[in-house]
Amino acid sequence: MTNQLAADGAVPETKSEKPIRRKANQLIPEGSPWNEVEEAFLKRRSVRKYKRKQVPEHYVKRILEVGRYSASQGNCQPWRFVVVRDRDMISEMELFVQNTLAMMSSAPPEEVASEEPSEQQGPPPHPIPIKLLQEAPPGMGIKVFHGAPTVIFPLMDSRGIGHPEIDLGIVGTNMIMSAYSLGLGTCWVGFAEILNFSDWPQRLGIEEPYKLVEAITIGFEAGDAQHNFVQRETHRTAWFENGEQRDMY
Ligand SMILES: Cc1cc2nc3c(=O)[nH]c(=O)nc-3n(C[C@H](O)[C@H](O)[C@H](O)COP(=O)(O)O)c2cc1C
Repeated sequence: MTNQLAADGAVPETKSEKPIRRKANQLIPEGSPWNEVEEAFLKRRSVRKYKRKQVPEHYVKRILEVGRYSASQGNCQPWRFVVVRDRDMISEMELFVQNTLAMMSSAPPEEVASEEPSEQQGPPPHPIPIKLLQEAPPGMGIKVFHGAPTVIFPLMDSRGIGHPEIDLGIVGTNMIMSAYSLGLGTCWVGFAEILNFSDWPQRLGIEEPYKLVEAITIGFEAGDAQHNFVQRETHRTAWFENGEQRDMY
C-alpha cells in the first residue's frame, strides 16, 4: 500500500460534490425507486465462477483501503489482511479443504451433528450447513475458492473488544461492495476456516492474536451470478412507537 493511496482514503467528507449522497432536506416520497447505493446492496450476488484474468493490483489496493476505513467497536480495527494471488497456492489450499470436507461428509451423520436437541448442547445446529456436508458426494469435493484469481483473508484480531467477528463482517462487506462497484465478483468463503487444520496459517504468516476465520474470493465474473438468486425470508421485526408495539412482516 503506498502512502499516496492511504492519504487519499483518509480524505474526510466535505461540502464538495457528493452526487451519490442526497442532502438531508431532499426527502424522497414513499415508493420511490431504490437509489444507486441501495441497488448495489440489493443486486450484489455471490459469484462462484470467475474468468482466469487476474484482478489488477491497484483494484485490490482500493478494496483494501475501503476495508481499512470500516467501522469497528471502540475503533479497535481488529483485523489485518492476507492477499493470495498465486494460482498454485490457491489450488493447493482448495485441494486441502476439498479433501477435508470429503472426509467430513463421508462420516456418519451422527458424528457430524446430532439432530436431537439436548439440554446440555443447547439448540440443534442450523440445518443448512449440515445438509450441505451430508449431501456432498464423498471425494467429489465442494468448490471452495471457485477458481478465483485473488483471495483475500480478512484475519480477525482476537484482542478486539466486544465481538471482533462483527467488525470482520463489516470490513468484509465493505470490501465486497467496493469490489462490486469496480465491476468485480466476490464470494465469502466460510469453508476457508478448515485451513486451520493444516500448516496453512503458518505458511501464510498468521500468528496469534490473528485468526483465519474467513476468506473472500475476488475476480471478474464468468457467467451471471444473478441466476444464483436465493430468496430471503421476511423475519419478524418488532416495532415500538408511540407507546405501541406492532410487527413488521
Ligand atoms: C460468512 C459467510 C460465509 C460464506 N461461506 C460460503 C462458502 O464457504 N462457500 C460459498 O459458496 N458461499 C459462501 N457464502 C455465501 C452465501 O452462501 C451467500 O451469501 C448466500 O447464499 C446468499 O446469496 P448471495 O450472496 O448471492 O445473495 C458465505 C456467506 C457468508 C456471509
